[in-house]
Amino acid sequence: MKTVAASGPWLILGAGSLGRLLACRLANHVELALLARQASRAPLLLTDPAGAQSAHSIARLRLDQAPSTPAMLHITTKSHAVEPALRELAPHIAPATPLVLWQNGFQIQQPLTRRWPGPVLCATTSEGAYADGRDGVVHAGHGHTFIGHLDGEHPGLAAQIAGVLARAGLASAACDDIHRRLWHKLAVNAAINPLVARHRIANGRLREPAFRPRVEAVIAEVARIMDAERIAPPESGWTTMVWRVIESTAGNRASMLQDVLAGRPTEREAILAPLLDAATRHRLDVPALTDLYRHTPE
Ligand SMILES: NC(=O)c1ccc[n+]([C@@H]2O[C@H](COP(=O)([O-])OP(=O)(O)OC[C@H]3O[C@@H](n4cnc5c(N)ncnc54)[C@H](OP(=O)(O)O)[C@@H]3O)[C@@H](O)[C@H]2O)c1
Repeated sequence: MKTVAASGPWLILGAGSLGRLLACRLANHVELALLARQASRAPLLLTDPAGAQSAHSIARLRLDQAPSTPAMLHITTKSHAVEPALRELAPHIAPATPLVLWQNGFQIQQPLTRRWPGPVLCATTSEGAYADGRDGVVHAGHGHTFIGHLDGEHPGLAAQIAGVLARAGLASAACDDIHRRLWHKLAVNAAINPLVARHRIANGRLREPAFRPRVEAVIAEVARIMDAERIAPPESGWTTMVWRVIESTAGNRASMLQDVLAGRPTEREAILAPLLDAATRHRLDVPALTDLYRHTPE
């Protein structure tokens, strides 16, 4: 059956960095509501990558104020917050509402795809955004977004959403290999985020002799796990893929580092636990990843 989005507003659950970015970009293209812990009528202020600012009147509603028949629900909380937030929202919206999961890692994608009564799409994005005060968001850098279903279902819906995102200025494409793309992103995140968070350093310092061998050790373990899981490697190979990201984000402070510095929960479970679980399943010894897991706050 070909699935396309029903009419109705697009809901975005989680008014943090990514949720605000999506809301500001989509505001002139679809009817939408941003679901937050507290309602607010204050406009959202978007700073684009060139530094230009624009104000957007976007209703921020509490979860119990959500319109009951949305076209779809984009979830933009951190991975560990998805299940509790969805439990809170579910009684207020139609049970088969299509979901789009924007989380890094590979923690909630599989269970929700199997359990949720409606279509569940996953998105992986290299857009970069951070929240700026109560009502602001900085779009730090343009990236690319891929959207698809873990089993390649609902391609029409994925294409429709990608088309709207692209028209809204967020380069996007539907894909039939989101499972592989999520694992590739997870591999990059596993090689960079826990190390920079532990040592409180910008990504580029991983090139220094003190850190380079540790990055290489993680890449080697990740490559063995991916091979055992039959996740096809990137065309450039795992090592080149990871070092390219380190080069292109050399000055950045990874989100996990920002979470550690702010005393917030990290996405350790979403990023490292799936690798350790897979290593256990395949009886692989992964000392570098195990050490990273032990030294990364939850
Ligand atoms: N930011 C980026 O550039 C980017 C890029 C690629 C992927 N991602 C991924 O996107 C996801 C979101 O990242 P983010 O940076 O946007 O995180 P974030 O800034 O922490 O935003 C998450 C938002 O969700 C809210 N939230 C959590 N539970 C909620 C609930 N029950 N009800 C209402 N609101 C709730 C949080 O509110 P509280 O703060 O009050 O808990 C917060 O405002 C992560 O998985 C991340 O890895 C982000």
